[in-house]
Amino acid sequence: MRTQVVIVGGGPSGLLLGQLLHLKGIETIILERKTREYVLGRIRAGILETGLVNMMREAGVAERMDKECFVHDGTCISYENEMFDINFQKLIGQNVVVYGQTEVTRDLYDARDAVGGQTIFEVEGVEIRDADTDAPYVTFTVDGSARRIDCDFVAGCDGFHGVSRKTIPDTVRKDYEKVFPFGWLGVLSETPPVHEELIYANSARGFALCSMRNENLSRYYVQCNVSDDIFEWTDEKFWDELRRRLPEAVADKLVTGPSVEKSIAPLRSFVCEPMRWGRLFLCGDAAHIVPPTGAKGLNTAASDVHYLYEGLVHYYQDKDSHGIDTYSEKALARIWKAERFSWATTNMLHRFPDQSDFDLKMQRAEIESLHHNETAQKWFAQNYVGLPY
Ligand code: FAD
Ligand code: DHB
Repeated sequence: MRTQVVIVGGGPSGLLLGQLLHLKGIETIILERKTREYVLGRIRAGILETGLVNMMREAGVAERMDKECFVHDGTCISYENEMFDINFQKLIGQNVVVYGQTEVTRDLYDARDAVGGQTIFEVEGVEIRDADTDAPYVTFTVDGSARRIDCDFVAGCDGFHGVSRKTIPDTVRKDYEKVFPFGWLGVLSETPPVHEELIYANSARGFALCSMRNENLSRYYVQCNVSDDIFEWTDEKFWDELRRRLPEAVADKLVTGPSVEKSIAPLRSFVCEPMRWGRLFLCGDAAHIVPPTGAKGLNTAASDVHYLYEGLVHYYQDKDSHGIDTYSEKALARIWKAERFSWATTNMLHRFPDQSDFDLKMQRAEIESLHHNETAQKWFAQNYVGLPY
């Protein structure tokens, strides 16, 4: 078998790249380790930057998003009983969109079906071969039979635990990592959101986040220990804990109900350099992870797709390799800024095990500066809505 670009991973990065390339007449095959139902069952990000929204439109998959999404002009931050709004629209004339990653992924799969794009599910043992030559190929097994696809390029869109990053030799690759000493317990519930905007809450009991998917579907998180047993976090215990971390006026309005999904995610910052090795390009979580505070995970994956898509289109249409040659550099320049924002926001809002009284005063001063200083709010707003591509 032969194609122009093999895309390893059928998550949002791989699917978006595949759809954009298809519209430019560039052929792709997507290899996905899991079933489609499994991929669509993962509850993850919920906030889309304008850059991603625009790419969804460019890919022709924005119809449902444009109809069903919520546009948020700002976000709220609370500390104990204080709460303030950072209004992106007033500060910098921009906004963000609330539309779940699950829905983004579903729309992209539907679009791929509609154009007859090839996706091979439940592949095993994917190996990327000869990526440092002009004739790379990918091998794998599916339904017990061994397969090989020859190609021009491989896009490694296979997430943090995929094979693509590990294909880059240790002598070439440098990983930067920081693991945070806590996780997030997330709950999805079929209840109306507690507030019209998201609330990021700093409290003495730890961080909490009130988010949403639609008018009757809420997503809430509380900071927890990564080692916590999810079965010990009963719904009742979760709602009690969430209430205690929110300003009283918000807690009083909280509508609770049975959870429809509950999971614990670890928090880490991670970047792999470079993001290109020969004809292999890493995109999204395959190359970098941010702690979720600030909603940058899916959005940084989207900016990688933008740079790689542009580079590949120039290569095929104009026989110009400048875009792919500068891919890693351009993607990383934006990634590191998103890493910094996510790291700083995580530090500002969480309780750390070794925090001294001095550290707590510093954290408080930082939140109060953000509350009362318009310049600080502008910086936050620019980063939250997403830096330009
Ligand atoms: P992924 O979504 O991980 O997709 C990679 C795909 O590759 C998967 O479908 C996987 O099955 C497949 N794959 C893996 N290995 C192979 C292989 N060897 N062969 C073939 N296929 C393979 N971000 C936020 O902004 N907010 C959040 O609340 C949030 N919550 C998260 C919760 C969790 C538990 C996780 C893991 C991430 C979360 N993120 C969140 C981050 C965000 O979801 C990711 O940044 C986003 O999914 C990245 O998309 P991706 O396509 O690069 O990777
Ligand atoms: C969501 C997750 C985030 O990490 C975030 O910063 C905002 C929203 C969410 O799942 O809705």
